[in-house]
Amino acid sequence: MSSTVIKSGEVPRYNANERVTHWIVAITFLLLAASGLAFFHPAFWFLTSLLGGGVWARILHPFIGVVMFVFFALMAMRYWKENVIQPYDREWKKRLSDVINNRDHNLPEIDKYNIGQKQLFWTMIITMVLLLVSGVMLWRPYFADAFSITLIRVAAVVHAASAFVLIVGIVVHIYSAIFWVRGSLRAMTRGTVTHAWAKHHHPLWYRRVTGSTK
Ligand code: HEM
Repeated sequence: MSSTVIKSGEVPRYNANERVTHWIVAITFLLLAASGLAFFHPAFWFLTSLLGGGVWARILHPFIGVVMFVFFALMAMRYWKENVIQPYDREWKKRLSDVINNRDHNLPEIDKYNIGQKQLFWTMIITMVLLLVSGVMLWRPYFADAFSITLIRVAAVVHAASAFVLIVGIVVHIYSAIFWVRGSLRAMTRGTVTHAWAKHHHPLWYRRVTGSTK
């Protein structure tokens, strides 16, 4: 966390390296979702203008996909351990009404991520792998020749279905980061959160990183 400027009253959550990696994934994801939707249905064709028109969108989409996968893989390796679902996460999920009604004293303490974030993390991993494998199989003129037409058709369905699941998942991710859990966004912009946010949403993590006993 050495590159994060820590003012009093702030708890470091992501260093500059982690934030740059995350925003590269987010920007490439938006370009891929836009161009992918344009290939899926003519109603979205206008979105190809983001990548310089239809021909450029078709050429660039798979390359941008590889960039997203590589940077996402760096994030996945970094956050893998912290997203393993623990017994206290399942208990926390059972008491969702206490979470929603701010009855913190009834809740088991959770670490850096809650079970919703963890389940989304594993959904991202599965869909990213499926998108990469099926995307390579569809990639003309480089790789598609190596597969039968039946396999290419299966890959097209897998690619569209996993993109759909990932897009819905990211809509939830963005909604909860900006509106649902207020005070999260600054973790990925400034790199820090407030003590109150950390103590309220992730008490176990809070005590682990600050050494606080409260
Ligand atoms: C474009 C809009 C996006 C916004 C506003 C956003 C916002 C955020 C924020 C605020 C966090 C920190 C949450 C916390 O520490 O509790 C975060 C974490 C994270 N984001 Fe995003 N994000 C976006 C896009 C994406 C995309 C496209 C992906 C991947 C496909 C992604 C993957 C992740 C992952 C893996 C984490 C770490 C949390 C975990 O491991 O569960 N984000 N994001």
